[in-house]
Parts: sequence; C-alpha cells; structure tokens
Amino acid sequence: MIILQYISVAEREEKKIYSLSEYGSKLGVSSITLKQLREAGFESLNEIILYNPNELSLKTGISEERANLIIRRARRIVKCKRIYTAFELKTYGRKFFTTGCKALDQLFGGGIELKALTEFVGEFGCGKTQICHQLCVTVQLPRESGGLEAKAVFIDTEGTFSYERIENIANRFGISPEFVLKNIYVVRAITVSELEDIVESELISILRDNVKLIAVDSLIALYRAELKGLENLAFRQQKINYLLDWLKRFAEDYELAVVYTNQVVQAVSGFIVYKAPAGGNIVAHAGTYRVFLHKRKDCIEAEIFDSPRHPKVSCVFAVTNEGVVDVEEKKKKRK
Ligand SMILES: Nc1ncnc2c1ncn2[C@@H]1O[C@H](COP(=O)(O)OP(=O)(O)OP(=O)(O)O)[C@@H](O)[C@H]1O
Ligand SMILES: [Mg+2]
Repeated sequence: MIILQYISVAEREEKKIYSLSEYGSKLGVSSITLKQLREAGFESLNEIILYNPNELSLKTGISEERANLIIRRARRIVKCKRIYTAFELKTYGRKFFTTGCKALDQLFGGGIELKALTEFVGEFGCGKTQICHQLCVTVQLPRESGGLEAKAVFIDTEGTFSYERIENIANRFGISPEFVLKNIYVVRAITVSELEDIVESELISILRDNVKLIAVDSLIALYRAELKGLENLAFRQQKINYLLDWLKRFAEDYELAVVYTNQVVQAVSGFIVYKAPAGGNIVAHAGTYRVFLHKRKDCIEAEIFDSPRHPKVSCVFAVTNEGVVDVEEKKKKRK
C-alpha cells in the first residue's frame, strides 16, 4: 500500500492565498465593508475575484459600484501579472494528471488538463460515470505515479455515485480505500436551484481544501428534467451557461480540472438520424476538450471531436471491476 500524506496547499502550490485578514486593508475600504465581506463568508481576495460586481453585491449587501471597485483592487493584488508572452506560457507549461489508462492519457497528450474543461459525452452505459469515479482516485495518486496528491469534488446529479466503485479502483492503484474516500467530497444536487446554490456558496469553501478536480456527472440531467419543452429552451440554456461560467472561473482561479459528462440527443440531418451531444451551442462552446464515447464490441472508443489543439483522434479502453483500463490489461486478466 502506498501511504499518502498531503501537505497544505500553501506549502506545495505556487498559487498564493491573499487572506482577507492580512490583505483586506489593501482594498482601501472601511472596516464596516471588510466586516460585511467576512460575514458573507469570504476568507481571501482570491475568493472575491471569482465574483462579478452584481453577484458580490447580492451576496454581501455592498453596493454594486463599491463591489466593482473591491473586485478590481483585489484582482490587481492577486493577479499582479496579467499579460504573459507566449514563451512564458510555454515555459510554465500545461499541467495534467493521469486518467489511470495509458490510451486515454496519450489521447489527451498527458492526461486530464488543469485549468481546462473536459466533456465526456455518449449514450447510456458507455463509461462516463466510470471515468468520473476513476479520476476522483487518480487525482489523489502520488506525483511520481502521475497524480497530484490532491482531492476531488464529485457533483452527482443522477444519483449514481458509488463508494464501492471508488474502493475497487483504489485497490487497483494500491492506495488505502478509506484514505481515498475521505478525500472525495460528494455533492448530491436534486434540483437546478440547489445545484446553483451549492456552486455559488458552499463549494467555494470546499475548494480551499486542495481540490484539483471537479467532476460533474452529469451536466445536463437536472436541466433536461426540470426545464422541459421548447418554451423553456432559452431559459434552460441561460441556466446551463451560468453553471458552466462558474465552472470556468473555478478552473482558472483554483488551477483545477473540470470534467463533466453529457448525454446524447437524437438529431436529424436529411434522412440520417444520428446521436448528438445535448445542450446545443452553449455546451458546444464551453468545453476545452470534447470527447465522444462509443460502445464497441468488447471495448469503448473515445474520440476527441472538438479541441483547440488536437485533430480528430481516438483510442479504445475498457471498463472492468478495477475501473477504466487499457484493452490489453483487460485481455491479460482474462488469460
Ligand atoms: N463493477 C463493475 N465491473 C465491471 N464493469 C462494470 C462495473 N460497474 C459498471 N461496469 C460497466 O460500466 C457500464 C456502465 O458505465 P457507466 O455507468 O459509466 O455508464 P454511463 O455512460 O455513465 O451511462 P449513463 O448515461 O446511463 O449514466 C456498465 O454497462 C458495465 O459494463
Ligand atoms: Mg452515468
């Protein structure tokens, strides 16, 4: 068994936390305003810059104009450097963690990328939920095994989270299942408004705890169930966009990976009926990497069909009791 011990985010990550107690005075606001920020649950300037003026005003009771000023000042302190040369970006590089499956890691060019949104779309039973479970484990692996020694949040909108699957996968990687389970925060949301409420408020305090993965399984289920029909389409899209917008802010500001699953809908082109990702243009534009999963005879094919830096490429993997594995691994087990 590998025994993992986490050290605090501040010690390990380059990202600096600008606490309100230490840096609040630099915002140039009165002690009453600082108290309002603290009472609304803010602990750092890093959290303030997640909000837009309207949201900050609603959350704190501070006027929108003042909220705008606070956010601008906080941003100047937290993001003192905002323009980089392309060479600096290359030097800083992309950060990944392993999927625990070589074929999938190669497909993405290193694994699941931090600060990016990765979508897995496909029909029922094609492994979307299994991938989310596995990533909640692999993000915890030691760095030398391709992990980040970090924690995960699993947002479960379909009621399919399974601690048994997590235990099976943890055993495969030789990590204590109990340790792994303790480092996964499971959020069960049953309505759109509950999901929004959690994302805007409680989730932020959880993310402080060295979270490097938010997995949403699935992005679309609640919206499809609750906001049915053409008459609700515009409102539904607006709501999905709102969730995606928050997920993007978290990915960027907490330098974490966001992974979500998406369902398929029947689409028609001429006489051809085919399966297309749900969520229309809003979801199509949001993801950094979009992966279609297709069920094949003894395996699943994963195809990147939308990416800013990949051509259309695909690979195959399998789902076993030990989680998402390479096809050869599954064959070896059979022998
Ligand atoms: N313990 C297990 N051992 C082996 N295979 C399993 C195990 N648990 C689940 N599976 C496989 O995973 C498949 C289900 O995959 P998954 O739950 O990820 O589908 P999904 O894409 O999330 O589907 P949906 O759209 O219905 O949510 C099952 O059909 C089964 O083949
Ligand atoms: Mg599922």
